[in-house]
Amino acid sequence: MIDTGPLSFYHDRNKAEDYIEMRRGIDGRILVSALRSLIADGSRVLELGIGPGTDLRILAEFFEVVGSDYSPWFLEIFSTAYPGIDLLRLDAVTIETDLAFDCIFSNKVLHHLPEEQMKRSLERQARVVGKGGILFHSFWLGDESSTCEGLTFTKYPEEKIASVLSNVGEIVKSGRYQEMNLNDSFFAAVRITEQC
Ligand SMILES: C[S@@+](CC[C@H](N)C(=O)[O-])C[C@H]1O[C@@H](n2cnc3c(N)ncnc32)[C@H](O)[C@@H]1O
Repeated sequence: MIDTGPLSFYHDRNKAEDYIEMRRGIDGRILVSALRSLIADGSRVLELGIGPGTDLRILAEFFEVVGSDYSPWFLEIFSTAYPGIDLLRLDAVTIETDLAFDCIFSNKVLHHLPEEQMKRSLERQARVVGKGGILFHSFWLGDESSTCEGLTFTKYPEEKIASVLSNVGEIVKSGRYQEMNLNDSFFAAVRITEQC
C-alpha cells in the first residue's frame, strides 16, 4: 500500500456495507459486453476495485477472473458469499502481483486516484498485461475533483481520459454511457502497443 490517505475511507466496514447497499441493482454488464468484443472468452482478467463484486461475477461468466480491492471488507464480504472466485488484496497503483493477465478491468475505480497515481497505475497495468494486452476502465465524466475522508473523487473530461490512456497504448474502443444520468460515464479500452 503506497500511502495511508485513500486507505481510510473503505477501511471502515460500515462504509463498505453502505456502498454495497447503494449499488444494489446497478451493474457493469454493458461494459463486460463491450469487453467481450475485444478479448476471447476464457481470457484471464484481473478486476481492480471490485467493491460489491457484482461485475466480477458477470466477468466470471465469460473469463478466468481474479478480483481485487485494497479494502479488506469488500474482499471479506464477497469471499464469504462467493468462495469460488479468486481474490487478491491489491492497491490499484502498485498492483503487486506476479500473476499474468490478458486484461485488467475496473469500473469507477481510477477516479479515486490522483492524476499522478493514475498514471503510475496505468504504467504498472501495462507491464502486468504486456504487449497486446487490454486495459478496460470506466470513469465519471465531468471536470471537478474533491476529497472526502482521504479519498479522492475526480470527474475527468473525455479528452483528459483519452490523453492519459494514450500514454500507455492505443485506444481501441471507447464510449459514453449512462449510469445515473445521461452520458455521465465513459469507458475506454487500451491495447498495449509496446513491451514495457
Ligand atoms: C466507487 S467504488 C467501485 C466499486 C465497483 N467497481 C463498482 O462498480 O461498484 C471504488 C472501489 O475502488 C476501490 N479502491 C479505491 N482506491 C483503490 C486503490 N488505490 N486500490 C485498490 N482499490 C481501490 C474501493 O475500495 C472500491 O471498492
